[in-house]
Amino acid sequence: MGLSRRTFNALACTTALGLALGGSAAVTCAYAAPTAPTGPAPAPPAADGRRHTIGFDRYSLLVDGRRLVVWSGEMHPFRLPSPSLWRDVLQKMRAHGYNTVSIYVSWNYHSPAPEQYDFTGIRDLDLFLRTAAETGLYVILRPGPYINAEIDGGGFPGWLTATKGAARTADPTYLSYVDEWLTQVNAIVARHLYTKGGGTVLLYQIENEYDSHVTEPTGRDYMAHLYKKVRSDGIDVPLFHNDKGRNGYWVPSSFDTGGEQGGWLYGFDGYPSPDKLPPDWGHFGTGGIKGGATASPRTPGFVPEFGGGWFDPWGGAWFDGKGYAESRRQRDAAYERRFYLTNLANGITLHSVYMTFGGTSWGWLPAPVVYTSYDYGAAIDEGRQPTAKLIPMHQLGQLLRHVPDFAKLDRAADVTVDGLKVYHLTNPDTHAHVYVLRNDGTEPVDATLPVPGTDLPVTVPARDARLLAAGIALGRRKLRYSNARPMLALTAGRQEIAVLTGQSGEATVTALECASLPKVTVVEGEAEHSYADGLLRIEAELDGLTRVLVTGGGTSTPLLLLLADDETSVRLWPRETPSGQVLVYGPALVRTASVSGETVRLTGDTVRATEVEVWGPRGTRRITWNGGDLKVHATSGGSLRSAEPLPGVGKVDLPALRDGWRRKTENPESAPGYDDSAWKPATRTTSYSTTPVPAGQPVLFADDYGFHYGDVWYRGHFVDARGAESVSLAYSTGTQGLLMAWLDGRPLGTHRMPVPDNSSVRQGSWADTAVFAVPEELRTAGAHVLSVLVRRMQHDQDGKAQDTHKVARGLTAVTFTGAAPQVSWRLQGEAVPDPVRGPQNNGGLHGERHGWHLPTFADGGWEAVRLPRADQGQGVTWYRTRFRLAVDAGVDASVGLVLDDDPARAYRVQIFLNGWNMGQYINDVGPQHTFALPNGILRTRGSNTLALAVLSDGTTPSGPSEVRLTLLGAAAGGVPVAAV
Ligand code: GAL
Repeated sequence: MGLSRRTFNALACTTALGLALGGSAAVTCAYAAPTAPTGPAPAPPAADGRRHTIGFDRYSLLVDGRRLVVWSGEMHPFRLPSPSLWRDVLQKMRAHGYNTVSIYVSWNYHSPAPEQYDFTGIRDLDLFLRTAAETGLYVILRPGPYINAEIDGGGFPGWLTATKGAARTADPTYLSYVDEWLTQVNAIVARHLYTKGGGTVLLYQIENEYDSHVTEPTGRDYMAHLYKKVRSDGIDVPLFHNDKGRNGYWVPSSFDTGGEQGGWLYGFDGYPSPDKLPPDWGHFGTGGIKGGATASPRTPGFVPEFGGGWFDPWGGAWFDGKGYAESRRQRDAAYERRFYLTNLANGITLHSVYMTFGGTSWGWLPAPVVYTSYDYGAAIDEGRQPTAKLIPMHQLGQLLRHVPDFAKLDRAADVTVDGLKVYHLTNPDTHAHVYVLRNDGTEPVDATLPVPGTDLPVTVPARDARLLAAGIALGRRKLRYSNARPMLALTAGRQEIAVLTGQSGEATVTALECASLPKVTVVEGEAEHSYADGLLRIEAELDGLTRVLVTGGGTSTPLLLLLADDETSVRLWPRETPSGQVLVYGPALVRTASVSGETVRLTGDTVRATEVEVWGPRGTRRITWNGGDLKVHATSGGSLRSAEPLPGVGKVDLPALRDGWRRKTENPESAPGYDDSAWKPATRTTSYSTTPVPAGQPVLFADDYGFHYGDVWYRGHFVDARGAESVSLAYSTGTQGLLMAWLDGRPLGTHRMPVPDNSSVRQGSWADTAVFAVPEELRTAGAHVLSVLVRRMQHDQDGKAQDTHKVARGLTAVTFTGAAPQVSWRLQGEAVPDPVRGPQNNGGLHGERHGWHLPTFADGGWEAVRLPRADQGQGVTWYRTRFRLAVDAGVDASVGLVLDDDPARAYRVQIFLNGWNMGQYINDVGPQHTFALPNGILRTRGSNTLALAVLSDGTTPSGPSEVRLTLLGAAAGGVPVAAV
């Protein structure tokens, strides 16, 4: 198609910047005149080698001149360390109506040291972008450099904590590192831009929630620098920022974009509480500085992050995390309908749900505030299982894809209905009307449909909402009104199909305009119909799938009306193929659909035995399912149906983990004679940390010695402990950190990070001082060794741009009472990063430094033991076992590891599966007991090694006690999984 001169596109805007083409003319390149929103659902995007334009006006994005409502979900490749499974999650999103995936790319995950970058294996961004394009999803790319995301340092690499210069400012040292990062990311992204047909990258975000220095030159220069850097790296898709809290920051023209106009969108985020009223944050909102989209009237309403759940903090007294079942209960399917429909009703047409698949903050990825699971209560759970929250996402996503009227809505005349908040909108081109009926009360509300000329009853359940439409096209026919929710309309072969949905048992009335008396056949289920005054009324109580075939009535193409209850609607799978549209009904998931000749080829999953039914292009007579031919017959509703049900998934057996354990205690570092001569001497006297170096002390901060992740050991040598009464060990770890100390091999005790007071939380400095008495027998002349193990949590995030990721980790100062020996310190943290598993896999425990976590490690000499255990002692003990799985090929079993014990027992466990650090269990803090084990790391057909590194306070008996595998979900189907 021809490019509108005013459409933002690659060519025009790089010309404006004078970067790629050396041109100098400034081109205004936004606000394109769109083409009419007609025709069937657009083909999903692909790396098709063609050029595309991405423009926008105040209503929506315009892709190749056609309106696009972005219905996106966030997932983080770094929270699913098994690249084969990216395809699984992406296919589930695509099938359930999402058209876009939004991702953060986390700097720390790819960079163990300055100038060292890794984009291979589990870090293969190119593979992720290829997979997204193959799945037919657009990509919103968000590489920071700061991302927040409840990840270590908010995405900043550990090494950045030990560098000069203020992060998130225009400081030249910081910017030089940022450029290093962006150069690496952009070299990959530039190959996947939708504008160039290399992939499906649609939009690109710079920074995240940057609400500091907004009016200062350093903030504006920083944003301008990022903008220009990204453009000069060849990224030509629209750029945007995610404004925290709808401050109206970083709207167009708020910083220097090098003369380029129209390449910048305004985006803001929101995580509204389920207990509050859904906010009006779109163009139709009340406006003002906190009004969301109203801050930028000429760009479309864009929410790059809207809460799809919420992260759960650690358990225990201070944080009180309750686990993700609770998060999913509070922000359930009704929450999604109520809040997301309010967004649509406010004119928001770019919508991204954070998170849609949360995944796992494995290894040392989590920021101090969160534990290992980042399930988030999202629509797809951490075990990759669909939840009921997909129902509204599926219904709305399919609707926005198939019914173009929703991409351009203006407010229409106010409508009032007692007990409900009603939004009334209309499409100025098609004159379709849309109503969002929201019930903010705690009782269901029975009302009458607010469409003129009708008296239809509608019930809106408590704290829920429903979307109704009038005057939209269902194929060639027009829907005058319905109290069922529209979901899609498509053409399959000779007939058109429209799907309307609602709750099971709901009485629905659907009125279609028909110029003359149509022929109506109730093909399946029960429905009544009548015709008068050019209107066909179909009445049906929703129960499974009711099918009504309408032929004639002034239109030659038949319309099959499918009335589906909610549970049934998520087993209806519309697909676009080059040969035409296909609708599949039955299986738990349809991953791919293609048509060749007379065959519709489907891949997907079943859980229970189910028939499969297909409405396909003309001439299709055969179906294959996961490669196998199905016996089919043609139905009177125009479909092909399998003669036999597809089998469901068989039973998955998991072994008990009672036997075969071997045990070994480590921490030789606590012994006086341990050779620490190869450790790093603590000789530094200055630091770039925001934690001041205490007067008279060497720098003890682990990051300054290159140790950024996990545990750190210190050994302090001194002479003469006479008179020493106690030793004070000041340390800084974040949330659940701890410290344990030994003097001359004698345990002094364990100190755990206490509940901090509010002010120390605000400053991000979770620091405290452990004071241990020096045993009288050790208060002697001569040489002494103080051994200290510090369990760190990770670096703080830097949400306020105050360099809080640079708060010290590890010991900070050591003093004695009664004596003042000169202590010379050495320290040891993690070894050189594992080249495959990466920098965040290991800390500095003896076992980690010596490969005790690895499957190849020979543990034959260790003591054979059985669980449960109840040993008492301060320090580190490892347990290893092997187990075999023999899950049927063709079954996708998602497996978790459960740890449980008496919550009074003070110990924690690092879980290593086949060498991969799958997270940290803290028995007396919780709330997490189940740890997802991603297939690929878990060998579902073969042998696995489990190693548990148990760190015990020494104050109580310690486990492990109960250790078992659990099935998080299983389906026949799945994706091929390569071993990681
Ligand atoms: C947002 C932020 C995300 C994440 C989220 C909470 O404000 O942009 O990175 O931290 O909050 O999960």
